[in-house]
Amino acid sequence: MQAYRASLLRFDAAGQPVFDEDGLLLVGPDAAGRQRVLDAGAFASVSARHPDAAVTHWPGRIIAPGFVDMHIHFPQTDIIGAPSEGLLPWLENYTFPAESRFAEPAHAAEVADVFFDELLRNGVTTSLTFATSHPASVQAFFEAAQQRSLRMITGKVLQDRHSPDGVRDQTEQSLSDTEALIRRWHGVDRLGYAITPRFAPTSSNAQLRGAGDLAAKYPDTWIHSHVAENKDEVRWARELFPGARSYLDVYQGFGLMRERAVYAHCIHFDDDDRRLMRETGTAAAVSPTSNLFLGSGFFDFEGADRIGCAYGLASDVGGGTSFSPFSTMLAAYYVGREGQTKPGVSIAPSQLWWRHTGGAARALGLEGVIGNLQPGCEADFLVLDPKATPMLARKTARAESLEELLFAMIVLGDDRLVERTVVSQALSA
Ligand code: GUN
Ligand code: ZN
Repeated sequence: MQAYRASLLRFDAAGQPVFDEDGLLLVGPDAAGRQRVLDAGAFASVSARHPDAAVTHWPGRIIAPGFVDMHIHFPQTDIIGAPSEGLLPWLENYTFPAESRFAEPAHAAEVADVFFDELLRNGVTTSLTFATSHPASVQAFFEAAQQRSLRMITGKVLQDRHSPDGVRDQTEQSLSDTEALIRRWHGVDRLGYAITPRFAPTSSNAQLRGAGDLAAKYPDTWIHSHVAENKDEVRWARELFPGARSYLDVYQGFGLMRERAVYAHCIHFDDDDRRLMRETGTAAAVSPTSNLFLGSGFFDFEGADRIGCAYGLASDVGGGTSFSPFSTMLAAYYVGREGQTKPGVSIAPSQLWWRHTGGAARALGLEGVIGNLQPGCEADFLVLDPKATPMLARKTARAESLEELLFAMIVLGDDRLVERTVVSQALSA
């Protein structure tokens, strides 16, 4: 049992922040040896309940939940910042050539290591992650995640048409590879499998149907894809699937909307699409740095809140421009202004933070497991140094409320703010 004393940020069941200026986080193994939060709260009361706990004191620091990135592509680590007039040429000119190299296990392993180093330096402890169409990319990812004791989700990309040689897969083989990878990795340690059709335009009907069948057969796997990101993409999907009511409805028709289904972007939606998201328990991964970089559009936060869709924040690296959750939260703040009908200050800082931690965990079906520091949660947490840079030190010292403190970190923070990332270990008996 270990106790950590610092300021402590958590969230309540309504997603509202709970902040102890002088807090204590108590961590210890559960029956299976997995380290979890045992108690959390004000130092005075938690230490009184556990007088024997050895306390590590981090004065002037903030303990906060590890961030959850709801949508990222590990094989696109090296194509961050590739300029393009839009999504489809970006895929053709940069993405597919870069991804074709992941047939090679050594390359996949090398990039997976860089990717996890980068995630952890930026305070991201869980991500829902695209691999490539090559099973070797999934294998490399899970092996590296397992070695680091991380809670991570990925899957082999399914793309059997409208894709160049080198990334295009074959329908039957792609589905049997997917099932073999589910059986090999899903539920092993903290690893989870996501059935991952790239997006409807690059999968045949047979592949989408097969993906839906696997999603029904393995109901606690995730489903992970893209939808309604870019106007040219939407037009293309509508041409390819003229019988569907909307682009989103294509996925519904193949049994690919349910709890634990996550679609990146969800920009060019109407209210019927939003209701379909809500009614099926499907979540949106909102990726504002990517949407601004590729000129895709603006996620409608008000629309999602009005209908009651589940959503959380995501980097979408390499379409997105940063691994840092602070960059993503700031971009979400900017995007939250677009189409705003009520006067005010876009999204509250604590809500941006929630959407990248506990809210993202809830959208993934992992509430109470990650993304928060309430008792029972796995002990994935960050130690933030609010004085990490001269400007952060000046601004955070002047904060007069929790919202001001969080906003100073969102606006000025980067990987330097994350002094330490602590990952829950499994202690073998
Ligand atoms: N749509 C299909 N594939 C991709 C991808 O790799 N990135 C993004 N942003 N959108 C996509
Ligand atoms: Zn993406």
